[in-house]
Amino acid sequence: MFSFLWEGHALASCLSLTFMLLLHILDVCMSESHHAECPESCFCSESVDSGLMVRCRDMNLIAVPHGLPNNTRHLYLDNNLLFTIPSDSFIGLPLLFRLDLSHNRLVHLEPGAFRGQADSLSSLDLSFNLLETLDPEAFGDLRAQTNLSHNPWLCDCRLQLAMPQLLLDPSSLAEVVCNTSEPEELGAQGMPFILVATDLDFCAALRRTTDFAMLITMFGWFTMVISYLVYYVRHNQEDAIRHLEYLKSLPNRQDRSGEKILSFITHPHVVTNP
Ligand SMILES: *[C@@H]1O[C@H](CO)[C@@H](O)[C@H](O)[C@H]1NC(C)=O
Ligand SMILES: *[C@@H]1O[C@H](CO)[C@@H](O)[C@H](O)[C@H]1NC(C)=O
Ligand SMILES: *[C@@H]1O[C@H](CO)[C@@H](O)[C@H](O)[C@H]1NC(C)=O
Repeated sequence: MFSFLWEGHALASCLSLTFMLLLHILDVCMSESHHAECPESCFCSESVDSGLMVRCRDMNLIAVPHGLPNNTRHLYLDNNLLFTIPSDSFIGLPLLFRLDLSHNRLVHLEPGAFRGQADSLSSLDLSFNLLETLDPEAFGDLRAQTNLSHNPWLCDCRLQLAMPQLLLDPSSLAEVVCNTSEPEELGAQGMPFILVATDLDFCAALRRTTDFAMLITMFGWFTMVISYLVYYVRHNQEDAIRHLEYLKSLPNRQDRSGEKILSFITHPHVVTNP
């Protein structure tokens, strides 16, 4: 009797255990279905401290993989063949904290490339790419520490205006080097951008060319106005001369018209007769 009871109890606890296990599996499946599965070319791992980490490094990727889980916190896309970052590439990842795009072929970041990341992203690695210039539109109001080292930067006015809008990773600054400069005479080649940017004004030359263009334009206008004036005066002079000649010839005509009037008065029937 006692053993039967005991067996019943064991069975019950066994059943409840199985039931709980089933519930747990169901729960896990449900919570998994909230987030997209790991993309084919990536490895995903989750930990309590760092959240979901998605590694897609060294996969010969030419585009950011589709269907990244929306709870991704760390995304490693380094050592691939990415050449551009289209707009809204990471828009579905509100928790993204660290993004590694280093060691790719990036030449271009489209406007809005990092849209939606202003609040979450804190570290952005763009080092070892082929970037020559920056479009501030690509970053929006991103506040992430950005690593721009080891890119063939073209140091010019555009870059000088764009750089200060980014929060640059201080430890990488020495490696943000000018490969070329515009104007070339400034001699910024091979120098860290941060060093030359404090001393040199890349925009001054541009301003000078703008001033020169303005001067040329103004001179053009001035010439046009002067030539018009000259033409006007000459034309008027001719007119005046013609007028003068007309006036000179006037006494004869006046005589003739006077004669006409006189003849009209003396012989009105001649004129009125058809
Ligand atoms: C991910 O998407 C699911 C719906 O598909 C949503 O319930 C969940 O809150 C999202 N997670 C984040 C972090 O946005
Ligand atoms: C770029 O800077 C980040 C910090 O923002 C750092 O973690 C990363 O190692 C740097 N990359 C290189 C190649 O130095
Ligand atoms: C640096 O600029 C030179 C031209 O001045 C160019 O030939 C070279 O390819 C550039 N380096 C890189 C890494 O793009």
